[in-house]
Amino acid sequence: MSSQDQPHQISRTLRSFGESVFTEINRMAIQTNAVNLSQGCPDFDAPAFIREAAQEAINSGNNQYGPMGGATVLADAIVHDARDIMKMDIDAASEVTVTCGCTEAIAASILGILHEGDEVIIMDPAYDSYRPCLALANVASRSVTMKAPDFALDAAAIDAACSDRTRAIMINTPHNPTGRVFTRSELEALAEVCRRRDLIVFSDEVYNRMVFEGEHVSIASLPGMAERTITLCSLGKTFSVTGWKIGWSIAPPHLTAGIRAAHQFLTFGCAHPLQHAAAVALRNRADYYVQLVTNYRQRRDLLCEGLHRAGFSFNAPEGGYFVLCNHAHLGQPDDVAACRWLIEHAGVAAIPPSSFYADPTEGSQLMRFAFCKRIETIEAALERLGRL
Ligand SMILES: Cc1ncc(COP(=O)(O)O)c(C=O)c1O
Repeated sequence: MSSQDQPHQISRTLRSFGESVFTEINRMAIQTNAVNLSQGCPDFDAPAFIREAAQEAINSGNNQYGPMGGATVLADAIVHDARDIMKMDIDAASEVTVTCGCTEAIAASILGILHEGDEVIIMDPAYDSYRPCLALANVASRSVTMKAPDFALDAAAIDAACSDRTRAIMINTPHNPTGRVFTRSELEALAEVCRRRDLIVFSDEVYNRMVFEGEHVSIASLPGMAERTITLCSLGKTFSVTGWKIGWSIAPPHLTAGIRAAHQFLTFGCAHPLQHAAAVALRNRADYYVQLVTNYRQRRDLLCEGLHRAGFSFNAPEGGYFVLCNHAHLGQPDDVAACRWLIEHAGVAAIPPSSFYADPTEGSQLMRFAFCKRIETIEAALERLGRL
């Protein structure tokens, strides 16, 4: 038997997750030359200041391993950033861990803090790495679904879903894929449940600089929450450098100890020169952040207007860079069929979000479009959708 004919050897834990449907959609999009609004990464380049900072960092000798918790300059810059966006004073040495993207921060937090047999509440639809990471840690997940079209965060439903094994809850705001920015009162209601039940919160805030309606509230900043919250962040979204994979966690020292216990054996550290560039990027960027929101708001409005014209129904996203639509008017049985159909008949690629749900039928009427794209790309997609 040639090595190509060998059956795939995938651990029992990961086998059920299979190949991501995103990989298939992306492959179809490339093969058919579709306008690609599926992937959540920009089709434009990162700003010059961050690219130049990376070149400078490489040329000035930061090319060997850095400290396990992250380069000191970056940890200090994260403290500065947290003061601005989270409204919190944190300690660089004992509360910040720099990781290989937010994806590693999620994995290290789960693997380093939770025990086999613990249970974690996940809000569906949920980013696709949460469930496999929990499975790798032998931790059970229980889903609470946020219902379309409002996708409200229902603290009472979360409370009702908790058992005596529940140890943590995972949230994400601004939210991928719904575009929700949880309100202060939604988060306060959740915080009350977490304090009463002594739960840890994993709060994924990678889109924290992309808010169009309302305000970004870090649940860690609410009373009694800093000591039980891990805030998970990424450089990739804010500075259009998704390929750099620089992320970080912010957590009190007793939780940071667990995160670092896993991080030291998972990756130990991410690209050291890029950490120095990230430190430059995170300092004094008030004007850049205003421009970022202006640019993304323009793209959001353009896409929303076009999708409405093409017959999709949805609530406009309050934050992040995705629009989650109902595709009923396309007449397809589910989201995967609808996305395949859209590539074939309109030449536009979107993401089928059923894999963001424990029960895929809950997402089967939905379709996700990304607007982290050039205006020309969005216009080209809308022109094609308009011909349907
Ligand atoms: C909600 C959410 N969390 C985490 C990530 C991963 O971030 P990173 O690329 O920094 O690993 C993404 C990327 O799409 C995301 O949408």
